[in-house]
Amino acid sequence: MGPGGRPELPTLQEHLGRIQSYLRGCGVLTFPGETPVRRELARFMEEHSDETARLWADAIGPAFEIDDEELDFLAKDMREAQARWLAHVRNPEDVETYAVLREHARGGFIAEHPPSRFLASQLKIRQILADLLRREMRDTVLLAELLDLLDQALWERVLHITDFFVEARLSERRRLEIQLIQSEKMAAIGQLAAGIAHEIRNPLGIIMNALYDLGELLPNPPAEVEEDLQIARSEMGRAQEIINNLLEFSRDSTTEMQSVDVNRMITQTLKLMNKHFQNSGVRPRTNLSDVHRCRVSENGMRQVLLNLITNAVQAMPHGGELRVATHQASSSRVGLSISDTGVGIPAERLARIFDPFYTTKDPGEGTGLGLSVVHSVITNAGGTLDVSSTAGSGTTFSIELDADGVPPADGKP
Ligand SMILES: Nc1ncnc2c1ncn2[C@@H]1O[C@H](COP(=O)(O)OP(=O)(O)OP(=O)(O)O)[C@@H](O)[C@H]1O
Ligand SMILES: [Mg+2]
Repeated sequence: MGPGGRPELPTLQEHLGRIQSYLRGCGVLTFPGETPVRRELARFMEEHSDETARLWADAIGPAFEIDDEELDFLAKDMREAQARWLAHVRNPEDVETYAVLREHARGGFIAEHPPSRFLASQLKIRQILADLLRREMRDTVLLAELLDLLDQALWERVLHITDFFVEARLSERRRLEIQLIQSEKMAAIGQLAAGIAHEIRNPLGIIMNALYDLGELLPNPPAEVEEDLQIARSEMGRAQEIINNLLEFSRDSTTEMQSVDVNRMITQTLKLMNKHFQNSGVRPRTNLSDVHRCRVSENGMRQVLLNLITNAVQAMPHGGELRVATHQASSSRVGLSISDTGVGIPAERLARIFDPFYTTKDPGEGTGLGLSVVHSVITNAGGTLDVSSTAGSGTTFSIELDADGVPPADGKP
């Protein structure tokens, strides 16, 4: 599961089994499997589908203050919902209607209204169907059975819907908690890291000066000394780079947002790294659209590109293709993606890659700070960051940033 991933859900079959056992426990599961009564009720519902939807819309419109135009759509939705529901009434194994309801309870139209409204509209459907049955069914024994089955089907529907609503709320809350834990963890480690980095930066500077002085004091040193000095200097360079990364990761860069031309920055970065690509057998490809400038820290964004591209190259030890693309995601958001055809990231590791100091590289090769810096720069700028990966075939990092000076489309500040 990634930073924005969904917690696991029970399968629809498990769900159905649970609701069926509730129904049985409450003594209302009178018609468990396929029966002639089920087929008869399904036939009746199908035959009266238009009439039911029209009567329902006439009643529900004024009660819920829905205007005529929206009501036409709703009546059509209701006819489709009826068609799915009656397929389940006919054959309880047909669970299409519950798959759709579950999806709608988490993101669809009904997710935007209180569940009571949805339940009220189901009660209305039941009432309309019961009235129609009483009007048309002459056989009183069959009528009684059909009404019983209709009630059972309604209870089943109500239990499913209430369950789906609670499930949707819970999994949304869990998703937010996971996000919160991630950002608290980042903030705590960020503070710690910044403290250490500040403490270490000064002694490092002093050692660097001392090395420089030594070089001056020994104009023609023996070869071994020269070599040691060289090693000391280059390792110092590496240490300083790590410190800079730590500081970048922990800095609250919200105050230094600039207007950045992301396309230009991509072109420059790729040009800078061209030699590196050639040595690693990596073919860079770009697909840059004509996008707005972005609101982000310029320095931070340079780090983001460098880190993501470096990771991509490192993920393709035998060469491959690096794709960098931009697109206008909406009138106020710019999208950027970086993909490689490398080794990929197994699902169980995805949740950890943004953790500071998480690395799978050999000691001395990676500090595990690259993606932490990326995460902190992007979220500080109010952007989003997503990753998708298939082990063995490649990884894509997708970013969205606010466009500079363009108000969001929904008019919110
Ligand atoms: N494009 C990618 N393909 C495959 N694995 C990746 C990719 N990008 C990141 N990873 C995995 O995520 C881990 C963390 O990446 P991150 O950039 O934070 O640290 P690093 O590259 O290991 O070290 P550093 O960036 O500090 O030198 C990597 O060690 C690697 O396992
Ligand atoms: Mg890295």
